[in-house]
Amino acid sequence: MGQRNGDVVALRRVSRRYGSGDSVVNALDEVSLAFPHGSFTAVMGPSGSGKSTLLQCAAGLDRPTSGSVTVGGTELTGLGERRLTLLRRERIGFVFQAFNLLPALTAEQNVALPLRLAGRRVPRARVRAALAQVGLGDRARHRPAQLSGGQQQRIALARALITRPEVLFADEPTGALDSRTGHEVLTLLRGIADHEGGTVVMVTHDPVAAARADRVVFLVDGRVHGELAGAGADAVAARMTGLETVPC
Ligand SMILES: Nc1ncnc2c1ncn2[C@@H]1O[C@H](COP(=O)(O)OP(=O)(O)OP(=O)(O)O)[C@@H](O)[C@H]1O
Ligand SMILES: [Mg+2]
Repeated sequence: MGQRNGDVVALRRVSRRYGSGDSVVNALDEVSLAFPHGSFTAVMGPSGSGKSTLLQCAAGLDRPTSGSVTVGGTELTGLGERRLTLLRRERIGFVFQAFNLLPALTAEQNVALPLRLAGRRVPRARVRAALAQVGLGDRARHRPAQLSGGQQQRIALARALITRPEVLFADEPTGALDSRTGHEVLTLLRGIADHEGGTVVMVTHDPVAAARADRVVFLVDGRVHGELAGAGADAVAARMTGLETVPC
């Protein structure tokens, strides 16, 4: 396990540039952020502000152009692909904006996949419990095409949680859910931080969802544009409205 106290994930002056010359995009521009052990952070910002890029760099799925990322004290930028893959498998859970389920596998096979890839035993009871945790205990044998968008999103969440990661990154995990199911998923994420000592970082466009986090970090044009701690949905919504009118 990582450090009991302090930051599980830290980004220092992380930049991610795409393209070159006239078409260069600074998706992240010198972002410094730390995510403490057992915390629940929401990341908000306009479309294209760099939220997904931030998560992918923090999770070792993408490599920053410059700057440093540490997870549990390990510097990611110097790691080769193999060690990076192992670290991701052991410590990090990731829910993608576009689910990324394997279409040929059933729900339970998708959920079991991270354990199989790590060469670990896959106790069926554990897989079933993970599915039940996201309210899909009765869909174990269904394939993604037989499930709704919200159900696929919850399968992706169960798959990210099956290894009990130290840190869970979730890119709009409630974006495709109705408000009741969304509320259940948020309660699950809140519980991971409160009762399991996990660290959760969630991108969302929804101020009500963001208000369930301990703090909300705002991004604009690849830069951190302030944060709010312990804010209600109204305060988060007011801040978002202000950001969307920030002149470029
Ligand atoms: N592979 C890529 N090649 C070139 N540009 C990219 C690439 N991926 C992202 N970008 C650009 O980087 C910027 C940040 O993208 P990112 O996906 O991080 O935004 P986002 O905040 O997650 O947006 P959304 O809310 O729409 O999901 C955008 O301008 C995007 O066009
Ligand atoms: Mg995104």
